Amino acid sequence: MKIDAIRRSYTKDKLDLDKLNADPIAQFELWLKDAIATELPDPTAMCVASVDSNGQPSQRLVLLKDVNTAGFTFYTNLGSRKASELSENPKVCLHFPWHPLERQVIVYGTAERVSNTQVMQYFLSRPKESQLAAWASEQSRPISTRQALMQKFAEIKHKFEHGEVPLPSFWGGFLVRPHQIEFWQGGEHRLHDRFMYKKSESGWQIERLCP
Ligand SMILES: Cc1cc2nc3c(=O)[nH]c(=O)nc-3n(C[C@H](O)[C@H](O)[C@H](O)COP(=O)(O)O)c2cc1C
Repeated sequence: MKIDAIRRSYTKDKLDLDKLNADPIAQFELWLKDAIATELPDPTAMCVASVDSNGQPSQRLVLLKDVNTAGFTFYTNLGSRKASELSENPKVCLHFPWHPLERQVIVYGTAERVSNTQVMQYFLSRPKESQLAAWASEQSRPISTRQALMQKFAEIKHKFEHGEVPLPSFWGGFLVRPHQIEFWQGGEHRLHDRFMYKKSESGWQIERLCP
């Protein structure tokens, strides 16, 4: 398969300092709105990169469930690879790959666990099947067959047939507090626009980066 000639030009938009919001979260919300309005698949999906105690990075997609001045929130299994890596080393990097808009956003920050009340609120808002699946899956652990997983799911479904599904103690969320956020807009001839926001004591500073 020949792939070296696969390429395209990026001409959709331009980014300049005077077009940017002084607050990166407000800027992010504008771009997220565009991603949602464009109806690209999974507009809230972000790649979360974590690093283990040997310095080995790993990454995976998760869904952003909240963004506000404090940061970016997602939910997951607390026994998963990402959760155990983040509890040892909270340094994290998020990536939003909005290709159809010729944009990407990269967030550098620190992850902390969100409160049980917040986790509970979100868990209760999920469809019942997703709540049951959270109970059935020992995320990131080996399992012999898909059948074994379905069997576990059926048992859990039976167990919680009546009433609300309780919040599993091994399920939770992370808030990523950002200290740097980059906005990238594809440009003609690979001369892309990149702006890095850096948090300082006096607020957010913005600098343009070479593409
Ligand atoms: C579009 C998409 C959205 C996903 N959303 C989540 C999510 O919100 N939370 C989650 O734990 N896993 C989510 N996953 C699954 C993760 O990518 C990953 O497989 C899982 O969390 C286990 O990761 P880990 O073993 O690296 O911890 C999603 C996968 C995709 C492709």
